[in-house]
Amino acid sequence: MRTQVAIIGAGPAGLLLGALLHRQGIDHVIVERQTPDYVLGRIRAGVLEQVAVDLLDEAGVGERMHREGLPHDGFSLCFDDRHHRIDLHALTGQRVMVYGQTEVTRDLMDARRAAGLTTVYAAENVHPEGFGGHTPALRYALNGTPHRIEADFIVGCDGFHGVARASVPAQAIQTNEKVYPFGWLGVLADVPPVHDELIYANHPRGFALCSMRSKTRVRYYVQCSLDDHVEDWSDDRFFAELKRRLPEADATRMVEGPSIEKSIAPLRSFVAEPMRFGRLFLAGDAAHIVPPTGAKGLNLAASDVGMLSRALAEHYRGSDAGIDSYSQRALARIWKAERFSWWFTSLMHRFPEAGEFGRKMQHAELDYLVQSEAAMKAMAENYVGLRLDA
Ligand code: APR
Ligand code: PHB
Repeated sequence: MRTQVAIIGAGPAGLLLGALLHRQGIDHVIVERQTPDYVLGRIRAGVLEQVAVDLLDEAGVGERMHREGLPHDGFSLCFDDRHHRIDLHALTGQRVMVYGQTEVTRDLMDARRAAGLTTVYAAENVHPEGFGGHTPALRYALNGTPHRIEADFIVGCDGFHGVARASVPAQAIQTNEKVYPFGWLGVLADVPPVHDELIYANHPRGFALCSMRSKTRVRYYVQCSLDDHVEDWSDDRFFAELKRRLPEADATRMVEGPSIEKSIAPLRSFVAEPMRFGRLFLAGDAAHIVPPTGAKGLNLAASDVGMLSRALAEHYRGSDAGIDSYSQRALARIWKAERFSWWFTSLMHRFPEAGEFGRKMQHAELDYLVQSEAAMKAMAENYVGLRLDA
């Protein structure tokens, strides 16, 4: 098979890139090692910056998001049993869209199927080759039968554990990583949200987050130890712990219900540089991971493929300026998002090794933040994604 762009991975990055390339009339295929149901079964975050909303609209898949998504003008920071509202819209003129990553992925898959675009699912032993030269190709097997796709470019949208970054010679890539000494225990449940906006809570027992997927489905998280196992956490224990970390009024108001999904996720900051190796590009989690505190993962993946799809379209119109500067431009935004996500994580979580002085510093930072219009504005601008493009 021959195509212009071969994409590895049908997560949100790969699917959105495919949709944007299709809009630009650029031929492409996506090769994914899992089945569509498996890809859709992964529960991830759900807060979209305007950049991501605009790209989903540009890709022609925004209709359901605007119909079912929840625009939020602010969120709440909780500490000392008190709410402090961060008024995103008043501080930045922007808002965020609460719409689950699973729904984004479903909309992209449905649009792809409707357009009759080629997606190879359940591909085995996917392997990019020749991207250092002029004839890159993607090898894979399907039910044991070998296949090869020749392309002008290969894009690794295959996530943190993917084959694309792993195929780059070690001396050609530099990585930076920080692993946090705790995880997030997340629960999905069909109950009404405890609050009409997200609650981020800093509590002596650890961080907590009350998010939602709709007016009838919640996504709640508590900071947990990395030694914890999901089996150790009954729904009752989860809700009891969550309520202890929230102001009394919220704890009283909280509706509990059976979890329909429960999982523990580690927290990591990770960046691989550069994001281009000859005719191979990286985008999304294949090149960078942020701790989920700032809800930047999906938005960074979207902004990467937004930049890359425009750069590839420019290439086919005769200019390589875009593809030649893609890595540098994407990394400039990524490091800003990494900084915000690390800062927000450091501010809101309990770090046992930081001791009492560490807790006092967090508290002083929170106090400063909620009393300084300038500090709140800077935080709001980072949260909605405005500062990342500056
Ligand atoms: N061959 C083919 N496909 C692969 C391979 C491989 N060797 N390795 C991984 N994949 C597929 C995975 O099965 C997955 O469907 O690549 C896809 C990568 O998707 P994601 O991990 O969701 O990464 P990305 O599309 O970059 O989305 C980033 O996901 O983790 C969240 O917070 C993150 O929101 C961000 C978003
Ligand atoms: C979520 O809805 O899952 C979510 C929201 C905000 C975050 C992280 C996760 O910062």
